Amino acid sequence: MICLTLMEDTIEKNFAVFMENSSFVDIIELRLDMLIDPLLVEPELVRSKFNFPVIITCRLVRDGGKYSGNEYQRRDILYQFSNAGFDYIDLEMGIVYPEVEEAAHSHNTRIIRSYHNFEGIPDNFEEIFRELASVVGEIPKVAVFLEGSCQVYKFFKIIEKIHDIEEKIVLGMGDFGIPTRVLYKKLGSFLSYCSVPGRSGAPGQLTPDKMKNMYRSDCINNSTLIYGIAGNPVMHSGSPNFHNTGYKRSSLNAVYIPFLVDDINYFFKLAGVLPLCGFSVTVPFKVDILGFLDRKSPEVVRTDSCNTVLRNGGMWEGYNTDLEGFLSPLAAIENLKDRLHRAAVIGAGGAARSVIAALKSLGLEISIFNRSEERGRILAEETACSFFPLEKFDLLSGYDLIVQTTSVGMIPDVEKTPVQGYRFHKDQLAYDIIYTPLKTKFLREAESSGAEIIGGMDMLISQGALQFEIFTNREYPQEEQKESS
Ligand code: ATR
Repeated sequence: MICLTLMEDTIEKNFAVFMENSSFVDIIELRLDMLIDPLLVEPELVRSKFNFPVIITCRLVRDGGKYSGNEYQRRDILYQFSNAGFDYIDLEMGIVYPEVEEAAHSHNTRIIRSYHNFEGIPDNFEEIFRELASVVGEIPKVAVFLEGSCQVYKFFKIIEKIHDIEEKIVLGMGDFGIPTRVLYKKLGSFLSYCSVPGRSGAPGQLTPDKMKNMYRSDCINNSTLIYGIAGNPVMHSGSPNFHNTGYKRSSLNAVYIPFLVDDINYFFKLAGVLPLCGFSVTVPFKVDILGFLDRKSPEVVRTDSCNTVLRNGGMWEGYNTDLEGFLSPLAAIENLKDRLHRAAVIGAGGAARSVIAALKSLGLEISIFNRSEERGRILAEETACSFFPLEKFDLLSGYDLIVQTTSVGMIPDVEKTPVQGYRFHKDQLAYDIIYTPLKTKFLREAESSGAEIIGGMDMLISQGALQFEIFTNREYPQEEQKESS
């Protein structure tokens, strides 16, 4: 079940959020601790207003909540609500409220017995869980903050050990814990919490729409193929939306999840445990990943950079779809061979490496323009290109193709360009690999001078579609194909 945590300060506001999101979720959690004055709320009125399964929670500050009144009042609030016939009531481990429990039992309200730890996974995690689970009729819940890839791996391993406890709620908080929220069914958790933007019930909660429509987390079962993207940062990535949309359109039982990674060793261990069928690799792991591959495609060997990993017969195979993804929008240019002879690459980082390898395959003469002379010269020497310091950008007028590979101009700095003051001419082709915004200042200036432009979204889609093919052995389903079929 997908559970929407309601965090507003009045019942009316909570009801409005519920109405907007009810189609995405199966149950709601009403956080009484967030209300302005929970003592003044009439439980029976709330019960009749929300004609839906409800969990009642009044979370203490020590457990990540806002409740700051005294213990007696909290017990009173929970007692009143226990008498109103809600479906579930969440009581923290160690809280002894016999009258609340009795009232809950007499109204068939199930007790969720919860344990929260914001410091990470305690050494006696399994013991705590077994203790919670020992009370007949109660549902044990454990929420721990996951600090890094090592803890994510450890979490999945421990949950394997408590497989025998059938009814439970388990989750890892924080961005590292996001896979535990999406894969809640795989962990044997009977629900996963989510919340609306700006009203997070706990760190790492996704939105109801994403849980239901993007990750289809309530449909995940033992046959679901798991893919993902490993990076840091990774939450901004457009790849989960792209791949999950593809799986949905192709009716594939597969899911693609963002994995925030701080230790590639543990990420690989986790990939083995889940197991992952394949994953995308983004900044800063495209080079670090090479040491873990059993096989490398010719493009990976050529660029020393890998953005796609497939598990094939127990082997990890590395591919580089950035190269072809970069070339694909260029292939659509008319008279490419006659038009392009000289290419300028702005930047000398990791992205520039893949771009240069791709341009070499077109047989172009390439020059690197970079801010730092040392870095630019080293790459130029390695790749047999010429080098110019970026301040000599006037020289760009002698090139047919100018590729922008730095992060200058990316959201939020949309009024920046690395070649401030340069005037493009109409025979030039300007290519920016940034995709947020869709049209950077670099491209806007090129376009206003009559030059042809290519934005980074084209490259993102091409490299993603190639990845999709590697992962699934199918072509990426474009919307138009679906509509015409
Ligand atoms: P990536 O892997 O995305 O290419 P990177 O390896 O950090 O990232 O490389 C960033 C590139 O953008 C470098 O060429 C960098 O220039 P320096 O070598 O001088 O650092 C370039 N870059 C970043 N910020 C820049 C700026 N404000 N102006 C010009 N170039 C910039």
